[in-house]
Amino acid sequence: MSKRKDINNLIGTDEEEEELEVAIPNDDYEDLRSKSEEFALSDLAGVGPATAEKLESSGFDSLMAIAVATPSEIVDATGITENAARKLIKDAREKLDMGFESGVDVLKKREKVVKITTGSSTFDEMLGGGFETSSITECFGEFGSGKTQVGHLLAVRTQLLDPNAITVYVDAENTFRPERIIEFANGAGLNPDTVLKNIKVAKAYNSDHQMLLIDKVEELITKQKLNIKLLVVDSLTAHFRAEFVGRGSLAERQQKLNKHMHSLQKIADMYNVCVYVTNQVMSKPDQFFGDPTQAIGGHIVGHASTFRIYLRKGRKGSRVAKLIDSPNLPETECNFFVEKEGIRDA
Ligand code: GTP
Ligand code: MG
Repeated sequence: MSKRKDINNLIGTDEEEEELEVAIPNDDYEDLRSKSEEFALSDLAGVGPATAEKLESSGFDSLMAIAVATPSEIVDATGITENAARKLIKDAREKLDMGFESGVDVLKKREKVVKITTGSSTFDEMLGGGFETSSITECFGEFGSGKTQVGHLLAVRTQLLDPNAITVYVDAENTFRPERIIEFANGAGLNPDTVLKNIKVAKAYNSDHQMLLIDKVEELITKQKLNIKLLVVDSLTAHFRAEFVGRGSLAERQQKLNKHMHSLQKIADMYNVCVYVTNQVMSKPDQFFGDPTQAIGGHIVGHASTFRIYLRKGRKGSRVAKLIDSPNLPETECNFFVEKEGIRDA
């Protein structure tokens, strides 16, 4: 039997109950939640019993859930007008004091950010110390460039930060390999059994399923209190690309991807999770200068990601990673080798 677990099978199992003890709740989230519990849905302007029931049955069962929703999600759930949905969200945010934060508050939040190291000092340096929690890092590049290897490596090395940290690995391409986790765990001096136990793998069968799984991740954090520190989505775009073919469906694809990115951002930001997503490239034949490849998903994916890394094959089997987008770091490159037990500076 493989050690992989599926999130779907995991929710509500007895086995899982034990693991709840390891959960370390996120302070910000706890603050908001206790504030949220002081209110009922009917305290919101314009919410009568019928709307409250619709909201509740669609999962918007607290002020907090409403405060972080988009108007269209509320419209879909309740059938109220978009304007009314906006008012509802605004009211929920005001009641929870989710307005502006001072620079001091943001700094305090930033102090909770931790960085997952890769084992390659130049790679870590390029990222200012490692892959950050509370952010989305997108890695794009051609097949075999090492995107999945980095995902596996992070799933293992997260546990160097905190032996109870949980990784959720959303596997959209059927490329998660527990064998590789064992090798990387040995390389990092960690117990492979413990490492595997702390990785929850869920296969995504299509783009809708993939989006649903992200909602489930939120439930794992809020309801099951799992101490999730890393969320890998490998690949972010493969299903979307396969399902929405041709120019005619591009708008719909981008709309769905936008929603997906929004959910991922919410998880990164609210629960201090490192979100790592991989992305493919397509060739851009009309590009005469520079690299004729382009990441899938365009601006929607690019803008939602905090850090973007372009991976390509380098000389003598090495890999080149280039940081191409970051809020606070220069554009730099590094060179490394993928090896049996980890990655190594070239
Ligand atoms: P796609 O998902 O196809 O787009 O590619 P990817 O970017 O995810 O590539 P992936 O991370 O799967 O990289 C595969 C490459 O990693 C292989 O071609 C090997 O070069 C390297 N690799 C994987 N496992 C090992 C290993 O055990 N030892 C060594 N030395 N290299 C490995
Ligand atoms: Mg891959």
